[in-house]
Amino acid sequence: MSTVIISGTQWGDEGKGKIVDYLASQANVVVRFQGGSNAGHTVTVNGEEYKLRLIPSGILCKDTLCVIANGVVFDPQVFLEEVETIKSRGIDTSNIRISNRAHVVMPWHKIFDELNEELRGDKKIGTTKRGIGPCYIDKADRIGIRVCDLIDPEEFAARCREVLTQKNFILRKVFNHAPISYEKVLNEYEIYAEKIAPYVCDTITLLNEEIDAGKKVLFEGAQATMLDIDYGTYPYVTASHPISSGVGVGTGVAPKKIDKVFGVVKAYCTRVGEGPFPTEQLNEIGDKLRTAGHEFGTVTGRPRRTGWLDACVVKYAGQLSGIDYMAVTRLDILDDFDEIKMCVAYEVDGKILNEIPASLKVLARVNPIYETFEGWKSDISQVKTYDELPDNAKKYLERMAEVTKIDLGIISVGPNRDQTIVVAENIFE
Ligand code: IMP
Repeated sequence: MSTVIISGTQWGDEGKGKIVDYLASQANVVVRFQGGSNAGHTVTVNGEEYKLRLIPSGILCKDTLCVIANGVVFDPQVFLEEVETIKSRGIDTSNIRISNRAHVVMPWHKIFDELNEELRGDKKIGTTKRGIGPCYIDKADRIGIRVCDLIDPEEFAARCREVLTQKNFILRKVFNHAPISYEKVLNEYEIYAEKIAPYVCDTITLLNEEIDAGKKVLFEGAQATMLDIDYGTYPYVTASHPISSGVGVGTGVAPKKIDKVFGVVKAYCTRVGEGPFPTEQLNEIGDKLRTAGHEFGTVTGRPRRTGWLDACVVKYAGQLSGIDYMAVTRLDILDDFDEIKMCVAYEVDGKILNEIPASLKVLARVNPIYETFEGWKSDISQVKTYDELPDNAKKYLERMAEVTKIDLGIISVGPNRDQTIVVAENIFE
């Protein structure tokens, strides 16, 4: 048995796609377990860039089974667009499987995502407007439509009529918004249903059988710890569980079947959307990080907020997800900095905190305690082994491991597969 989870440790956009792609080349199965098309994983293979939103990053490895499990909210329109794009670049998509229990993103979810954000005014969350939150709301409200309903024409027609009656009532009475046409949705989704049906199966049985047969299975987290609905900076979070525990409910694979957890840590920090960000640099340092790291959203194109690495947040992620190894990404982005800072503790009212405050009011007031590191001021993008890294880069990494209490596993020094330094060998053994 060999199962590995990859989870983001910060606010997303840590470069998980690249790490998943690297590990996927050793895996037989790659699984998405939460989130939906709000994710944007950029993977570069042989200098060619691929942007994936719903399909697991394993699709770029030949013969890897790619599973969209039940915890994902599945947007058939985005999925089919992605399939077409990938196919047009010569990649086989027949290895994709979609859970029959995944909830389907419907047109009203996207409309409500927009309207709810408008209603929140200056308290808006800054969502990706992909209908993710409203789809999870309907799941909890027991009025969601699942993939198994979508591919059953009679059931879909009935469920769609029932739910749309309720949604149109709210659209009219609360938002003074034009109703959504039942016929239009039915016609559009009937076409999707036909196209996705060949990919649909019971992924719970599939995954458990693969694991029991000794296959190597990689669980690909989207978003990240600080966006987790329970553990993140609520309410400025997404609607799912990106932490490792999300795999259990999101796939039907029991916790005791998980072997290792990798936490992806960007060498500095970014965030999109609203909410507190203690190490944010609203100055020329933040601008330099944004420019050097091309920090603009894959899904929305929004400029990302940027700041120094917050080791308190990474340590918290380690605790929550039981992280065995860190995969540090984008270390090369810091190549040109004279000095680099790392937040190693939070102080509030003269006291050092032992936890991440639940209250956003308190989190907004924390004073990050920084340690300063001398930059390495050299191009590390072609470095192939840990020993070859400049001493100042090693000092930074080793302090990161010490503060977070997580071992170094992988160091990424560029977007390509061959720009990956492996510290922990035989990850799937
Ligand atoms: P939602 O997931 O679209 O509901 O957005 C909720 C919050 O999560 C917003 O702050 C988004 O910017 C953030 N978010 C969602 N997906 C991602 C992601 O893949 N990377 C970074 N932030 C994300």
